[in-house]
Amino acid sequence: MSAIREYQDTDLSSEQVRAIVSLLNAIWPRPEKTVEDQIEAFVNAAQAPEREGIGHLRFIIWEGTQAIAHARTFERIAHTTAGPIRVMALSGVCVASTHRGQGLGAAMTRKAFERVDRGVFPVSLFQTLDPAFYEKLGARVVHNRFVNSKNEKDPDASPWHDAHVMIYPAPYPWSDGVIDLNGPGY
Ligand SMILES: CC(C)(COP(=O)(O)OP(=O)(O)OC[C@H]1O[C@@H](n2cnc3c(N)ncnc32)[C@H](O)[C@@H]1OP(=O)(O)O)[C@@H](O)C(=O)NCCC(=O)NCCS
Repeated sequence: MSAIREYQDTDLSSEQVRAIVSLLNAIWPRPEKTVEDQIEAFVNAAQAPEREGIGHLRFIIWEGTQAIAHARTFERIAHTTAGPIRVMALSGVCVASTHRGQGLGAAMTRKAFERVDRGVFPVSLFQTLDPAFYEKLGARVVHNRFVNSKNEKDPDASPWHDAHVMIYPAPYPWSDGVIDLNGPGY
């Protein structure tokens, strides 16, 4: 099994950023933005003051200079009917199409979930089209209504775009009721 490396975005070289953007672009194409624009946005976001101290960590598996697997974790304070909760946001989980079915996606996601297992965050919250992949890793689907109070145009609209929202670990006492994601979906 290839090593799973952990990075703060500011520690990545420009070649590494290019490799990560290329992987993400191959899986979630953004034809409206050039790769160069995406690299610039990545570097600017990494250096933004609000990125400091919020537990942002990227997980990458390399094959030579090519990024073949990726996941991103960071902090989000969501608001439940029982009060605020610090969740570990998980996003951009992907494996290059040439390297799927070898256990890389599961190994990398487990590594990301270890942040919760170690108590860095009480729970992880994320969206997906493939709940079965995460259920095998100990996550479960939740059915709350989600809103985003920071969406000035439509604060009651769901901030998610995928069909399923999940938490890890499954036994976590997740509250019922409306949840304000307090920012856009990820
Ligand atoms: C989903 C994805 C990350 C899986 O990566 P992978 O390295 O091929 O997965 P693994 O080989 O580690 O598979 C682990 C287990 O999950 C299962 N699995 C893999 N992809 C799955 C999927 N899309 N849906 C459900 N189960 C899946 C495998 O069968 C395997 O099961 P097993 O342990 O019983 O053998 C990869 O297919 C991918 O990048 N897809 C495109 C991006 C995406 O959809 N990301 C997730 C959305 S949040």
